Amino acid sequence: MKGIVLAGGLGTRMHPLTKVTNKHLLPVYDKPMIYYPIETLVNAGIEEILIVTGGNSAGDFLKLLGNGKAFGLKHLNYTYQEGEGGIAAALALAEYFADKDRIIVVLGDNIIEGNIRKAVQDFIKQESGAKIMLKEVSDPNRFGVPAFENGKIVRIDEKPEHPASSYAVIGVYMYDSNVFDVVKTLKPSVRGELEITDVNNHYIKEGIITYEILEGWWTDAGTFDSLKYATNRVAETGANKL
Ligand code: G1P
Repeated sequence: MKGIVLAGGLGTRMHPLTKVTNKHLLPVYDKPMIYYPIETLVNAGIEEILIVTGGNSAGDFLKLLGNGKAFGLKHLNYTYQEGEGGIAAALALAEYFADKDRIIVVLGDNIIEGNIRKAVQDFIKQESGAKIMLKEVSDPNRFGVPAFENGKIVRIDEKPEHPASSYAVIGVYMYDSNVFDVVKTLKPSVRGELEITDVNNHYIKEGIITYEILEGWWTDAGTFDSLKYATNRVAETGANKL
């Protein structure tokens, strides 16, 4: 299984912080934001990792991360996303790297308190399809939100005005090698992006998605408020605990 960290985009929601640098290089307490999703993958036993970056300061990722020595890695892979096409468009750039292997994708602004090792092990045992992770939140309308029937997810709504549940789909996704064919069938959403939620809805329709509820806190850090929250949580308890 290979890991992919999505760290592109122009970070327009965070101007002027991201006017001259990439959102994922901003500090979250004592480390740059991108450190956290990489640690999440490494703690889950993933050794082959691709960083998809783009926008401002793309070269700084190489300077900061090098070959991944700080994470105990021997090597890191990089690719560059031109412009802003959404999470699924960024993922499409990883097809060559994935080379028909299964993948785990982590959004570069997602930070967790604990680890996802068990979920990854469970997915390795899963015959095919996808696995997503959920967390109960007080503001589900900011996220992808699952709708349940008899404990099964029947669809995911992206940033719904009237959320069907109080869960968020967090930015950690596991896919079989078909995911790149799924991405090729997507059409841009109303916000003009290829949505990861549409990828997940495809797997739901096929009936081959599973989910787990994440333990410990989770947050994104892609808005001023969530960046502040993330910084405080990391300072208080630490992140990516084993
Ligand atoms: C993205 C996804 C959303 C998910 C969230 C997690 O939102 O589209 O489904 O819940 O990441 O951080 P975005 O950060 O693009 O607004």
